[in-house]
Amino acid sequence: MLFYVLNYLYFYLKAGNQHAIHSPFVYKLYTLVVQSKKEYYAFSELEKLRQSLIADPRELEVTDFGAGSKYANNTNSNKKSISQIARRSAIPTKKARLLFNLVEYFKPKVILELGTSLGISTLFMALATDKSNTQIITFEGCQQIAKKAKQNFEQLDQKNIEIIIGNIDTTLPKNISSLPSLDFVFLDANHRYEPTIKYFNCILEKCHDNTLIILDDIHWSKGMKKAWQEIIKNEKITVSIDLFHFGLVFLRKEQPKQHFDLRF
Ligand SMILES: C[S@@+](CC[C@H](N)C(=O)[O-])C[C@H]1O[C@@H](n2cnc3c(N)ncnc32)[C@H](O)[C@@H]1O
Repeated sequence: MLFYVLNYLYFYLKAGNQHAIHSPFVYKLYTLVVQSKKEYYAFSELEKLRQSLIADPRELEVTDFGAGSKYANNTNSNKKSISQIARRSAIPTKKARLLFNLVEYFKPKVILELGTSLGISTLFMALATDKSNTQIITFEGCQQIAKKAKQNFEQLDQKNIEIIIGNIDTTLPKNISSLPSLDFVFLDANHRYEPTIKYFNCILEKCHDNTLIILDDIHWSKGMKKAWQEIIKNEKITVSIDLFHFGLVFLRKEQPKQHFDLRF
């Protein structure tokens, strides 16, 4: 916790805003998308769903993968209420809105997500898409959580989401070759150094010049910070943006390699 707070203070002292950006691509992205205050009908619809999940006391049998479990409840019980899962694992509102805005701005055709949980982040992305033209593939390890996520997708009539169930350590390498080229990737599963690097390298082969990869909680632990620093050094990554809670990386060949620390 102390590590996280100190990191937060350090980041906010050094991070800039739009005045620190000299790249037109990043300036536009920051001012139009990251700083957007637009309200969409989908936001209230999804917050209603979140509230109904938070109010749901029913328990699910949970498979613990170790460190999606940054939000784990520190008990040995393998049962958790839907309420607990929604409160501890689902993406907070501010970040969820940014995911929506990013999808709305870039209009990806294929979205890949690692770490579905109850599907709140998946739905924020889904509701920003043109359904007839977009495919979303999301990975979750826990059978019962995935089942509840599917019900949430059905409740909101989202038919373009495919959920792949099982440990991502095996389901991702097994499925990667049959996946289409990826336009937009959100990594929010196992928040540890090794899996993050492994998953990143695996998806990289399906990425192209205009792919955006988003990593959640890059400052959450020493391991995540190390993974982030290694990823932004990767020769294929040109633009990297640290928003503290999210890390954004682009493979745009036309851009010189450049890093930005920006307030969000
Ligand atoms: C932080 S939660 C995802 C939250 C979700 N993206 C949202 O914002 O609503 C992480 C999820 O990843 C799953 N997970 C973690 N490690 C995994 C692994 N190795 N294989 C499959 N699923 C995993 C956990 O079961 C958990 O549901």
